Amino acid sequence: MNIKRIGILTAGGDCPGLNAVVRAVSKNALKHGIEVLGFKNGFDGLVRNEFIKITEETVSGIINRGGTILGSSNIANPFKYTLAPFGSPEKPRDMSSVAIHNFKDNQLDALITVGGDGTLHMSHQFIEKGLPIIGVPKTIDNDLCATDQTFGFDSALSIVTEAIDRIHTTAQSHHRVMIIETMGRYAGWIALRSAIAGGGDIVLIPEIAYSDDVIVEQILARKAKGRTFSIIVAAEGAKNEAGEQSVSRTVAGSTDAIRLGGIAYKLSDMIEERTGIESRACVLGHTQRGGTPTAFDRWLSTLYGTKALDLVLEGKFGYMAALRGFAMTEVKIADAISKLKMVDPNGAEVQAALKAGMSFGSRQIG
Ligand code: F6P
Repeated sequence: MNIKRIGILTAGGDCPGLNAVVRAVSKNALKHGIEVLGFKNGFDGLVRNEFIKITEETVSGIINRGGTILGSSNIANPFKYTLAPFGSPEKPRDMSSVAIHNFKDNQLDALITVGGDGTLHMSHQFIEKGLPIIGVPKTIDNDLCATDQTFGFDSALSIVTEAIDRIHTTAQSHHRVMIIETMGRYAGWIALRSAIAGGGDIVLIPEIAYSDDVIVEQILARKAKGRTFSIIVAAEGAKNEAGEQSVSRTVAGSTDAIRLGGIAYKLSDMIEERTGIESRACVLGHTQRGGTPTAFDRWLSTLYGTKALDLVLEGKFGYMAALRGFAMTEVKIADAISKLKMVDPNGAEVQAALKAGMSFGSRQIG
């Protein structure tokens, strides 16, 4: 393929490793004599035609930096776009033709979109309108199917695991029940893996319905055995037996408007009331997405970025770089967005957690 100029954007919720992807793409592209335009704030930059020309200097020294030098947005959707300030009632318009015009006007030969589920859906819509796009999967939630792991997930795990370790010591001192709320949206990967790594006592995930009664029984059983504290790791999307989740707010215009959150506070009140044991909630929130990427995520992001540029050079548009085992491969974006990757309640990982003495606070499992 005769590629002279490409665009790159980072969209959706940010995560550690985005800069390492931008760096890997750009360094490889510049080596091939390809110009790189970095669009600002996800798809917003493509609609507004706001970009920077990436040079060697732009991407020098950023592999260890969290966030994204390009900025990101999880509300800018060119297909439902509003120019008005965030939160205003202006009706969204389809601005995809403006984005396509800007792509052509800048004489781009390809666009690399780095993002999660929402970004890949928008990328797919643009692919159907003829744009040559390559995707790179990103999210701390690790909920994208068609790739074994997204970058950002390992960094989030290490942050949550460290938090569990720290909470452990204060729970021990005060003989409390501590509930740590993690992100993860509709999948329980962050909560489950960090609870395993941090030695949590009870883990609550969206894939396995929990019961207040079982949680209370287990805390009292631990107390009867002489354990004076308990650690609960609750995914923000965990569901009770009635299928209820805690929603903290809705974000108009976002590809997924629901923002989950608040389960830790609800559980803390319930546990204190029913067991008489002092309880505290700790919501880790956006700390899970911030700061330095782990060595693994820097490595993974570099592989993703390198593969994405290879796919551009091969002209394999409509594909996304994907990890299978420890090697890079590619999958069609259309296939990657067909469903979310969830924890298998009957899988080996849940079994391992149970065998290590962890509970899912559930009547179904354990
Ligand atoms: O998808 C990544 C994620 O961090 C989720 O884990 C979380 O539910 C959501 O984004 C939070 O989004 P926002 O940045 O809009 O608060």
